[in-house]
Amino acid sequence: MKLYNGGKIIAGMVAFLIAVTFPFWYGRGKTVSPPDLKLDTPTIEQLKEKRCVEPAAYMRASHMKLLVAWREGAVREGIRSYTATDGRAFQVSLTGTCLGCHSNKDKFCNRCHDYTGSKPACWSCHIIPEEVR
Ligand code: HEC
Ligand code: HEC
Ligand code: HEC
Repeated sequence: MKLYNGGKIIAGMVAFLIAVTFPFWYGRGKTVSPPDLKLDTPTIEQLKEKRCVEPAAYMRASHMKLLVAWREGAVREGIRSYTATDGRAFQVSLTGTCLGCHSNKDKFCNRCHDYTGSKPACWSCHIIPEEVR
């Protein structure tokens, strides 16, 4: 068989290889930084207590689980106090405890939830204290 247009075929193959491997080599050595949501919570400057109920990494990933456990415990079993893993005791209260520290709900809870598109439907019943600005 006669291979005609060999040059074009090879050029085509090279172009194809560059195209399919593009995602693997493009951007190599660059790091993708996480989004900066500019979270703002008064605790960091204003409160004496600079620790969350549980370690921040746990809270970041699992605060919803903690809140659900608090709610079920309080509503079903009347458990109104929570002992954190480091031994500190907290009142079980979304408004009083969580927003007691994170009084800047708008710039804290909401910034994340807006980013992730989640709308926890808690505030039709639970009170949002007047925000600290
Ligand atoms: C339809 C109304 C309603 C909605 C919506 C609601 N709650 Fe509640 N929640 C209550 C009531 C009523 C209690 C019991 C209050 C009490 O006994 O002190 C309660 C208690 C709680 C408690 C324990 C006590 C306290 O005051 O914090 C937590 C924690 C809680 N809810 C979390 C949540 C979370 C998180 C959401 C949103 C995902 C939510 N609730 C949505 C009505 C609601
Ligand atoms: C005693 C004050 C205090 C209380 C009470 C408190 N927090 Fe926090 N929380 C903090 C502080 C301070 C940080 C930042 C800790 C850090 O960056 O090391 C934080 C961090 C967090 C984070 C992670 C934020 C991030 O940067 O990713 C979440 C989510 C959170 N808290 C939710 C809650 C919820 C929900 C409650 C109630 C169950 C709560 N917090 C109660 C002080 C508090
Ligand atoms: C670091 C980012 C971040 C911060 C800060 C944060 N959240 Fe969340 N929250 C999330 C994410 C992500 C989810 C999960 C969304 C999903 O699974 O749809 C979530 C889910 C929740 C849920 C469960 C919603 C549901 O309907 O199941 C509740 C309740 C909640 N957050 C309460 C709070 C409260 C109260 C605060 C402020 C004290 C707060 N969050 C701060 C990121 C955050």
